[in-house]
Amino acid sequence: MDILELMKKRYSAKKYNADKAIPQEKIEALKEVLYLSPSSINVQPWKFTFVQNTGVKAQLAAVSMHNLEKVNQAQLVVVFSVADDLDAFQQIVDTQFPEARRNWYNQIRASKPEADLKIWLSQQVYIALGVGLTASIALGLDSTAMEGIESDKYKEILNMTDFKPLFAMAVGYGAEDDFNRIEVMPKSRRLLDSVIESI
Ligand SMILES: Cc1cc2nc3c(=O)[nH]c(=O)nc-3n(C[C@H](O)[C@H](O)[C@H](O)COP(=O)(O)O)c2cc1C
Repeated sequence: MDILELMKKRYSAKKYNADKAIPQEKIEALKEVLYLSPSSINVQPWKFTFVQNTGVKAQLAAVSMHNLEKVNQAQLVVVFSVADDLDAFQQIVDTQFPEARRNWYNQIRASKPEADLKIWLSQQVYIALGVGLTASIALGLDSTAMEGIESDKYKEILNMTDFKPLFAMAVGYGAEDDFNRIEVMPKSRRLLDSVIESI
Protein backbone atom coordinates (compact mmCIF):
# COMPACT_ATOMS: atom_id res chain seq x y z
CA MET A 1 0.00 0.00 0.00
CA ASP A 2 1.45 3.40 -0.85
CA ILE A 3 2.00 6.07 1.77
CA LEU A 4 -1.10 8.10 0.85
CA GLU A 5 -3.31 5.04 1.14
CA LEU A 6 -1.76 4.26 4.52
CA MET A 7 -2.36 7.79 5.82
CA LYS A 8 -5.97 7.66 4.63
CA LYS A 9 -6.42 4.35 6.40
CA ARG A 10 -4.88 5.22 9.77
CA TYR A 11 -7.08 6.58 12.53
CA SER A 12 -6.83 7.08 16.26
CA ALA A 13 -8.20 3.89 17.77
CA LYS A 14 -10.51 4.56 20.72
CA LYS A 15 -11.19 0.90 21.53
CA TYR A 16 -8.89 -2.08 21.09
CA ASN A 17 -9.35 -5.81 20.67
CA ALA A 18 -7.64 -6.89 23.89
CA ASP A 19 -7.38 -10.53 22.82
CA LYS A 20 -5.60 -10.22 19.49
CA ALA A 21 -1.87 -10.55 20.03
CA ILE A 22 0.65 -8.44 18.11
CA PRO A 23 3.32 -10.65 16.51
CA GLN A 24 6.47 -9.98 18.53
CA GLU A 25 8.50 -9.32 15.35
CA LYS A 26 6.29 -6.32 14.61
CA ILE A 27 7.03 -4.95 18.07
CA GLU A 28 10.75 -5.50 17.54
CA ALA A 29 10.50 -3.72 14.16
CA LEU A 30 8.74 -0.77 15.84
CA LYS A 31 11.58 -0.53 18.37
CA GLU A 32 14.14 -0.27 15.59
CA VAL A 33 12.05 2.25 13.64
CA LEU A 34 11.71 4.56 16.66
CA TYR A 35 15.41 4.15 17.36
CA LEU A 36 16.08 5.54 13.86
CA SER A 37 13.90 8.65 14.30
CA PRO A 38 15.49 11.90 13.17
CA SER A 39 16.10 14.89 15.47
CA SER A 40 17.72 18.31 15.32
CA ILE A 41 21.54 17.96 15.36
CA ASN A 42 20.81 14.25 15.92
CA VAL A 43 20.40 15.04 19.62
CA GLN A 44 18.13 12.03 20.35
CA PRO A 45 17.01 13.30 23.79
CA TRP A 46 14.52 10.46 24.27
CA LYS A 47 13.68 7.17 25.85
CA PHE A 48 11.02 4.84 24.44
CA THR A 49 9.59 2.46 27.04
CA PHE A 50 7.78 -0.53 25.53
CA VAL A 51 5.21 -1.85 28.00
CA GLN A 52 3.59 -5.21 27.25
CA ASN A 53 3.37 -6.38 30.87
CA THR A 54 -0.33 -6.36 31.77
CA GLY A 55 0.29 -5.51 35.44
CA VAL A 56 2.37 -2.45 34.60
CA LYS A 57 -0.12 -1.48 31.88
CA ALA A 58 -2.94 -1.62 34.45
CA GLN A 59 -0.97 0.68 36.76
CA LEU A 60 -0.39 3.13 33.90
CA ALA A 61 -4.05 2.88 32.81
CA ALA A 62 -5.18 4.06 36.23
CA VAL A 63 -3.29 7.34 35.70
CA SER A 64 -4.21 7.82 32.03
CA MET A 65 -7.29 10.05 32.37
CA HIS A 66 -9.77 9.40 29.53
CA ASN A 67 -7.33 6.90 28.02
CA LEU A 68 -7.76 4.33 30.82
CA GLU A 69 -9.47 1.68 28.71
CA LYS A 70 -7.18 2.10 25.72
CA VAL A 71 -4.10 1.55 27.88
CA ASN A 72 -5.62 -1.56 29.41
CA GLN A 73 -6.88 -3.01 26.13
CA ALA A 74 -3.99 -2.26 23.76
CA GLN A 75 -1.43 -5.03 23.76
CA LEU A 76 1.41 -2.53 23.64
CA VAL A 77 1.89 0.91 25.16
CA VAL A 78 4.98 2.90 24.21
CA VAL A 79 5.86 5.70 26.61
CA PHE A 80 7.84 8.57 25.05
CA SER A 81 10.06 10.39 27.54
CA VAL A 82 12.41 13.35 27.25
CA ALA A 83 15.72 14.02 28.97
CA ASP A 84 14.73 16.12 31.99
CA ASP A 85 17.83 16.14 34.18
CA LEU A 86 20.16 18.15 31.96
CA ASP A 87 23.28 17.22 33.91
CA ALA A 88 22.48 13.53 33.51
CA PHE A 89 21.86 14.11 29.79
CA GLN A 90 25.21 15.89 29.60
CA GLN A 91 26.82 12.60 30.66
CA ILE A 92 25.20 10.92 27.65
CA VAL A 93 26.33 13.76 25.40
CA ASP A 94 29.89 13.55 26.74
CA THR A 95 30.19 9.78 26.39
CA GLN A 96 28.04 8.89 23.37
CA PHE A 97 28.26 11.82 20.96
CA PRO A 98 31.03 12.34 18.43
CA GLU A 99 33.03 15.51 19.07
CA ALA A 100 31.43 17.75 16.45
CA ARG A 101 27.92 17.02 17.66
CA ARG A 102 28.96 17.35 21.32
CA ASN A 103 30.37 20.82 20.60
CA TRP A 104 27.23 21.79 18.76
CA TYR A 105 25.00 20.64 21.63
CA ASN A 106 27.20 22.44 24.16
CA GLN A 107 26.89 25.66 22.19
CA ILE A 108 23.12 25.35 22.06
CA ARG A 109 22.97 24.56 25.79
CA ALA A 110 25.11 27.59 26.59
CA SER A 111 23.03 29.89 24.39
CA LYS A 112 19.54 29.13 25.72
CA PRO A 113 17.81 29.48 29.10
CA GLU A 114 17.22 26.01 30.58
CA ALA A 115 13.43 26.26 30.03
CA ASP A 116 13.91 26.95 26.30
CA LEU A 117 16.40 24.11 25.96
CA LYS A 118 13.87 21.74 27.54
CA ILE A 119 11.14 22.86 25.13
CA TRP A 120 13.51 22.27 22.20
CA LEU A 121 14.37 18.79 23.50
CA SER A 122 10.67 17.92 23.92
CA GLN A 123 9.92 19.04 20.37
CA GLN A 124 12.32 16.39 19.13
CA VAL A 125 10.35 13.66 20.91
CA TYR A 126 7.18 14.63 19.02
CA ILE A 127 8.99 13.87 15.76
CA ALA A 128 9.38 10.30 16.97
CA LEU A 129 5.62 10.17 17.68
CA GLY A 130 4.92 10.98 14.03
CA VAL A 131 7.33 8.28 13.01
CA GLY A 132 5.70 5.81 15.43
CA LEU A 133 2.13 6.50 14.28
CA THR A 134 3.10 6.12 10.63
CA ALA A 135 5.21 3.03 11.28
CA SER A 136 2.33 1.39 13.18
CA ILE A 137 -0.09 1.55 10.25
CA ALA A 138 2.68 0.47 7.87
CA LEU A 139 3.09 -2.60 10.09
CA GLY A 140 -0.66 -3.25 9.91
CA LEU A 141 -1.27 -2.05 13.47
CA ASP A 142 -3.70 0.50 14.87
CA SER A 143 -2.50 3.13 17.32
CA THR A 144 -3.46 6.13 19.45
CA ALA A 145 -1.28 9.06 20.47
CA MET A 146 -2.07 9.97 24.07
CA GLU A 147 -1.05 13.22 25.71
CA GLY A 148 -3.75 12.51 28.27
CA ILE A 149 -1.50 10.87 30.83
CA GLU A 150 -0.32 11.91 34.30
CA SER A 151 3.33 12.39 33.58
CA ASP A 152 4.56 12.45 37.21
CA LYS A 153 2.73 9.22 38.02
CA TYR A 154 4.00 7.50 34.87
CA LYS A 155 7.49 8.57 35.91
CA GLU A 156 7.05 6.98 39.34
CA ILE A 157 5.56 3.74 38.00
CA LEU A 158 8.37 3.39 35.45
CA ASN A 159 11.06 4.25 38.04
CA MET A 160 12.48 7.03 35.92
CA THR A 161 14.97 9.50 37.32
CA ASP A 162 16.65 11.42 34.50
CA PHE A 163 13.82 11.30 31.95
CA LYS A 164 10.24 12.56 32.08
CA PRO A 165 7.28 10.93 30.25
CA LEU A 166 5.66 13.34 27.77
CA PHE A 167 2.99 11.18 26.15
CA ALA A 168 2.28 7.58 25.22
CA MET A 169 1.18 5.63 22.16
CA ALA A 170 -1.22 2.69 22.40
CA VAL A 171 -0.64 0.05 19.72
CA GLY A 172 -2.69 -3.01 18.80
CA TYR A 173 -5.71 -4.00 16.77
CA GLY A 174 -8.69 -1.65 16.85
CA ALA A 175 -11.93 -3.25 18.06
CA GLU A 176 -14.51 -4.12 15.39
CA ASP A 177 -17.05 -1.92 17.21
CA ASP A 178 -14.75 1.08 17.72
CA PHE A 179 -16.88 4.12 16.80
CA ASN A 180 -13.77 5.81 15.44
CA ARG A 181 -12.89 3.14 12.85
CA ILE A 182 -12.10 4.66 9.48
CA GLU A 183 -15.02 2.86 7.80
CA VAL A 184 -17.42 4.50 10.26
CA MET A 185 -15.85 7.89 10.97
CA PRO A 186 -14.49 9.61 7.87
CA LYS A 187 -11.27 11.63 8.22
CA SER A 188 -11.95 15.15 9.43
CA ARG A 189 -9.47 17.84 8.40
CA ARG A 190 -9.45 21.56 7.62
CA LEU A 191 -9.80 22.54 3.98
CA LEU A 192 -6.76 21.41 2.02
CA ASP A 193 -6.42 24.78 0.28
CA SER A 194 -6.18 26.60 3.58
CA VAL A 195 -3.47 24.23 4.83
CA ILE A 196 -1.36 23.58 1.74
CA GLU A 197 0.18 26.46 -0.15
CA SER A 198 1.97 25.88 -3.43
CA ILE A 199 4.23 28.52 -4.91
C1 LIG B 1 0.13 14.73 20.35
C2 LIG B 1 -1.21 14.06 20.29
C3 LIG B 1 -1.89 13.78 21.46
C4 LIG B 1 -3.12 13.12 21.43
N1 LIG B 1 -3.72 12.75 22.61
C5 LIG B 1 -4.82 11.95 22.57
C6 LIG B 1 -5.34 11.38 23.75
O1 LIG B 1 -4.85 11.60 24.87
N2 LIG B 1 -6.41 10.54 23.64
C7 LIG B 1 -6.98 10.25 22.43
O2 LIG B 1 -7.94 9.47 22.39
N3 LIG B 1 -6.51 10.80 21.28
C8 LIG B 1 -5.44 11.62 21.32
N4 LIG B 1 -4.92 12.13 20.14
C9 LIG B 1 -5.57 11.82 18.85
C10 LIG B 1 -6.08 13.06 18.09
O3 LIG B 1 -7.26 13.53 18.64
C11 LIG B 1 -6.26 12.65 16.61
O4 LIG B 1 -5.00 12.35 16.05
C12 LIG B 1 -6.94 13.72 15.75
O5 LIG B 1 -8.23 13.98 16.20
C13 LIG B 1 -6.98 13.32 14.27
O6 LIG B 1 -7.68 12.10 14.11
P1 LIG B 1 -7.03 10.81 13.46
O7 LIG B 1 -5.75 10.51 14.22
O8 LIG B 1 -8.05 9.71 13.68
O9 LIG B 1 -6.77 11.09 12.02
C14 LIG B 1 -3.69 12.79 20.17
C15 LIG B 1 -3.00 13.10 19.00
C16 LIG B 1 -1.77 13.71 19.05
C17 LIG B 1 -1.03 13.95 17.75
